[in-house]
Amino acid sequence: MKEKQKELWASLDEALKMALTLEEVGSIKTEYLGKKGKITELSQLLKTMSPEEKKDFGKELNEIKNHAEEAIAEKIAEIESRQLSDRLEKERIDISLPGTKIVTGSPNMLEGLIEGLEELFLSMGYDVVEGPEVEKDLYNFELLNLPKGHPARDAQDTFYIKDEELLLRSQTSPVQIRTMLANSEKGPIRIICPGKTYRRDDDDATHSHQFTQMEGLLIDKDISLADLKGTFDVIAKYMFGDKVKTRFRSSFYPFTEPSVELDVSCFNCEGKGCPICKNTGYITVGGAGMVHPKVLKNCGYDPDEMSGFAFGFGIERIAMLKYGVTDVRTFYINDLRNNSDRRDV
Ligand code: DAH
Repeated sequence: MKEKQKELWASLDEALKMALTLEEVGSIKTEYLGKKGKITELSQLLKTMSPEEKKDFGKELNEIKNHAEEAIAEKIAEIESRQLSDRLEKERIDISLPGTKIVTGSPNMLEGLIEGLEELFLSMGYDVVEGPEVEKDLYNFELLNLPKGHPARDAQDTFYIKDEELLLRSQTSPVQIRTMLANSEKGPIRIICPGKTYRRDDDDATHSHQFTQMEGLLIDKDISLADLKGTFDVIAKYMFGDKVKTRFRSSFYPFTEPSVELDVSCFNCEGKGCPICKNTGYITVGGAGMVHPKVLKNCGYDPDEMSGFAFGFGIERIAMLKYGVTDVRTFYINDLRNNSDRRDV
């Protein structure tokens, strides 16, 4: 019997050693400890034995049974722990992988345009100045040669604070007045002023009660329209690319004489004619002119000694042209759901 026990023990150990899966261990368990298993079968022999024989045999049988149960449980634990570490290995998070990029938006178009223009003007020796949005009628109109009742005021009706003397500026041009008045030596000036402006307009695709302008003013000795043309050339090329040409078209502003409209050849069709330039080949981007002698005098400058040019651009208009925005309201609404200018990036 000893031999038989040893054989069983060894064959069970061998079988367990080879087993790789819980299923295999399961069938080994059945093979040895199941109802018709090898160990169970051995216990049948007990019936045929004398009490003495039974005692020894029973003891041996228990030993082998205990061993089988322990060895099987051990094997199961071993396989389960291996499976767990396999899974952990497979599911490990590789923190060295680059993360998913979260799109956080991009610089505001108007701000971006203003910042670019500021850099350009700073490189030409201009200063960037600011002026108040709540402005005196005196600076927004009167000293700019737009006395009360002047017809040119109609196009610049705005919002009034308390009475008619204090208003939301309808243009950035009052900053010209403020800068000239503040210059005690009545010396040269080179400034730009970007900022918000307001008009009593009904909002639609091309009108907004609030918008952004950029004013420019240069005062010095012997300044002529040629200086304005050269400066405008630099600005136009910066805005729309090196290929564009510039053109002055005669116009009227009360604070400049002569006054011009600032046109650039269409960046889209290169002047051939297309829907963007309404088939004219040119696009108007701002107004300008030589500072009116009356305005110079109003601010303490002697028009016989000093002259200068001034210009004004609508920032939204330039952004709309440059980036193909079709509705000015797009710049101010936050709800993107019904926005025809929406671009999914
Ligand atoms: N302020 C004018 C406007 O809002 C634009 C403008 C035109 C500004 C001519 C100027 C200028 O400085 O010289 O329509």
